[in-house]
Amino acid sequence: MKKKITIPEILKMKQNGERITVLTAYDFPFARLVDGGGVDVILVGDSVGVVVAGHDTTLPVTMDEMIYHSRAVKRADPKALVVADMPFMSYQTGIEEACRNCGRMIKEGGAEAVKVEGGSNIAHVIRAVSSIDIPVMGHIGLTPQSVHRMGGYKVQGRNEQAERIMDDALAVQHAGAFAVVLEGIPASLAADITKELTIPTIGIGAGSSCDGQVLVIHDILGLCEKYSPKFVKRYADLAPLISSAVASYVADVKNGEFPTAEHSFS
Ligand code: KIV
Repeated sequence: MKKKITIPEILKMKQNGERITVLTAYDFPFARLVDGGGVDVILVGDSVGVVVAGHDTTLPVTMDEMIYHSRAVKRADPKALVVADMPFMSYQTGIEEACRNCGRMIKEGGAEAVKVEGGSNIAHVIRAVSSIDIPVMGHIGLTPQSVHRMGGYKVQGRNEQAERIMDDALAVQHAGAFAVVLEGIPASLAADITKELTIPTIGIGAGSSCDGQVLVIHDILGLCEKYSPKFVKRYADLAPLISSAVASYVADVKNGEFPTAEHSFS
């Protein structure tokens, strides 16, 4: 049986050249399924705001919502390390508020680590939160909480921007992050960053050279019909299966074919 994955083991995986697998989950049943599939890390992503709550961006997601989802994931008792996203405006306004909110995510949400978006601009927060023994995963490149500054979900770090992204990666590592998500950057830049850093890089739309990969569970299962980014590989197409199951139920009830004696009490 697989044993509980810890942060030292995640760090060892980079040293041993073992790829790190990460998927999102936001609730108890998906956490069980994702953990049963053998991932190393479950990310309770603020992407929940888009794929579950139906918002256009992750910006409206609140601390209380993230704590609710993290608790639901933890109830599945996963072997995978549970990392929870810190939502927009829960850590950007200052070190004290950031530490308090990251503490809530560990204490009330049951998360084993938190993830914050930003590079050099947020290094002071990563340093403060790590220094009180809350493990932090960084997230640089295309950072969805910066959608308005970026003018949309656009690839970052092309050409002269590459140096800034490398500086962000080094700042995040130096501040004490145990790993960093590289999102939406050229594959060659992600490869350079992965070589340069001693902490693991987890790629999403960042090519194949990262130490690990992360995707959103609804995207790989074909549950999010709203959009499908280029970097997503769809491993199942569940939306039509679910629609067809629902249509069969509706037809059975309308036609009097459900419930039968089999589903009734005597
Ligand atoms: O919120 C999320 O799911 C994420 C991943 C896509 C990296 O941040």
